[in-house]
This record gives sequence, structure tokens and C-alpha cells, in this order.
Amino acid sequence: MKLFDVYPINDIEIVKACGSTVWDEKGVQYLDLYGGHAVISIGHTHPHYIERITDQLNKVGFYSNSVKIPLQEELADKLGRVSGKEDYQLFLCNSGAEANENALKLASFYNNRKKVISFSRAFHGRTSLAVAATDNPKIIAPVNETDNIIFLPHNDESALEQAFADFGNEISAVIIEGIQGVGGIRLASNDFLQKIRSLCDQYDALFIADSVQCGYGRTGKFYSHDFAGVEADIYTMAKGMGNGFPIGGISIASKFKPWHGMLGTTFGGNHLACAAALAVLEVIEEDNLMQNAAAVGGYLMGELKKFDRVLEVRGLGLMIGIELPDELSHVKRDLLFKHRIFTGEAKPNIIRLLPALNLSKVEADVFLDAFSKALKG
Ligand SMILES: Cc1ncc(COP(=O)(O)O)c(C=O)c1O
Repeated sequence: MKLFDVYPINDIEIVKACGSTVWDEKGVQYLDLYGGHAVISIGHTHPHYIERITDQLNKVGFYSNSVKIPLQEELADKLGRVSGKEDYQLFLCNSGAEANENALKLASFYNNRKKVISFSRAFHGRTSLAVAATDNPKIIAPVNETDNIIFLPHNDESALEQAFADFGNEISAVIIEGIQGVGGIRLASNDFLQKIRSLCDQYDALFIADSVQCGYGRTGKFYSHDFAGVEADIYTMAKGMGNGFPIGGISIASKFKPWHGMLGTTFGGNHLACAAALAVLEVIEEDNLMQNAAAVGGYLMGELKKFDRVLEVRGLGLMIGIELPDELSHVKRDLLFKHRIFTGEAKPNIIRLLPALNLSKVEADVFLDAFSKALKG
């Protein structure tokens, strides 16, 4: 059997990793500013993370949600505290798409409506409703097509007002990333997020904050939507939550009342996943990683803005997009193959930095130096 070839891959095999450094099979060292797509939040092979998971594996690795799993309550308590949402409820699943799928389903259960507002360039995952709410027709299969999604221009308050005026009583939810990731590191404005909140309140629709990529402390606040001073009804999360262990979750406002069987999953919230997620939160808290993300990210953005060949630098904390002109489209490749630095990208020419939240200033400087050389060709 061969692999189903859906990923364009770099010809590099990573065999060892520590913090923000990885090594390939030939012993070549790389700086990792991509984190396997915003997943590595506390650094590769963090000792506390390894210890927590190993200890748990030696006790019990998995049992289903048919028995008590106190680790889930421990995780809910800790997440509530670190995220500042203590009165919310936690449902655990396995990935970002699944988190959004469950959030949209829950919204529809709540208000018994079907329409969902999403925005241009949004990415919410590849399962049926999550992909339908994703602004990329290429990845929406005919079976995923639905009239229930209304796409609106991003950050356009009057288009949003008009959509509510036209369909207000049919709209179940508005789903929005605080900062679009796949869409090219584009911030939802504070005014726009506040407008979503007030229209959702007015029309009894639900505000779903997709925090799968921009959440979990990456921007310097736990959820990037927090910058707007609004509370969403549901926050979805995954990527950084398990530092590589597959886990996703939704944080659900107290007005939602659960009933048995309403949501469910075999693997979600298993012992190992909870141990991984707890280790991540413990490190984020103990090592002040949100403050570090804000400080090192702010420094990086300030320095990047000084390069006059860069068209635009966007982002918050350690979620940074660097938009380059066409003639510099080689820079991302050069960073990887000449300077040995992993970065992410968004089409057409946006470099995405999504490093671990404990990236040091020294590592940021290594990148800035290489970036300046790569710009010169
Ligand atoms: C904002 C956002 N939502 C949802 C997803 C889907 O997450 P997953 O790939 O874990 O299903 C992603 C993945 O890139 C994402 O960036």
C-alpha cells in the first residue's frame, strides 16, 4: 500500500527536536518558527510535558467517556482559570475541525436555526459544516455544499448589519477567527468583533470564536478575541492545546444546558490527551509564556517593520504574517534550505511565523539576521 498523496512535502525528515530547534536525519539543525503549523506551543520535548505524559501512560492511557475521568475536571478548572472563562463549560474532542463542527451543531441545537455567517478568507477545517464555512471552494466536495452558510466580506460592518436585517431570525451563529491564519494573518478589527457581539445579542444568534490557530496564548492574550473586550458564546481550540498530542475542545458559555447524548466522541478527553493538555497549561502558566509571546512577538514585529522591502507585517504576539512582493517569493524557500529555518506560508507571498510561545529573543535575532540576508537574495 502507498500513501494517499495529498500533501506537498519538503524533502526533510525530522528525527530529533528540543525547544525551537529540530534536527534532520543527517544531523542538520534547524530553527523552528512554524511549530508544525502552530501546534508546538511550549516547545518540542519539554521535560515537564514528557514527564506528565509518561507518568500517565504508565497508569492508564485510555478509557472511554463511560467512566469518570477526573483529569477532565482538572483540565476544565485549569483552562477556565488560565483563559479567564471560569463560568464556561468544556467539551473535549480531537481536532480543530471537530471543535468547530461541534460548536456549530451546539449553536443550532440552542436556537433551533440553520444559517451560519462566515467571512471571506475564513478557514474552519475540513469536516462537513466546518469546510462549508471555509472560504475555499476547491476543498468543498459537492456533498458538503449547503445554502446554510452566508459568506460576508471580512471586517465589513454594514454587510453584517444588512445580513442580520435580511435573515436575522434564521441566523444560528457567526463564526470568526480572531486572526485569520490560513487566510494570511488578517486581524478581525475590535469594532467588527464588538459589532458581531451586539448583533448576536440583538437577534439571539451565537458568537463562535474560532481560536484553533490564534488562541491558546499565542497572541499574548489567551484568546485573541479578548483584545476586543467581548465574550464569545463558544470558543473553539485545538493546535497548541496538546503541544502535538491530538486534542481539541470547545469552551461553552453557561447559558447552554447539556443533555446526555447531545455531543459525543470516542477518543475526546482520554487520559493521555488530558495529561498532555494539563502539562501545556502548567508550563504556559509557570513560565509566563503569554507574556513572553507578547514581548518577543512585539519585538519581532517592530524589527520586521523596519525592512523596506516588506509590504506589510501583520499579527499579534507570536502569530505574525510578513507580506512580500512577488520578486521575493523565493524567501521562504531560502530560509528553509539556505538558512535552515522553518516558517509557514499563506498564498501568495505571505510568510507566517507560528513558533513556540517560549521562543527567545536570541532565537528571534537569529531569524531576523537570516531574513535580512534572504531578502538580499
Ligand atoms: C482557524 C482554524 N480553524 C480550524 C482548523 C482545523 O483544525 P484541524 O486541522 O485540527 O482540524 C484550522 C487548521 O489549520 C485553523 O487554522
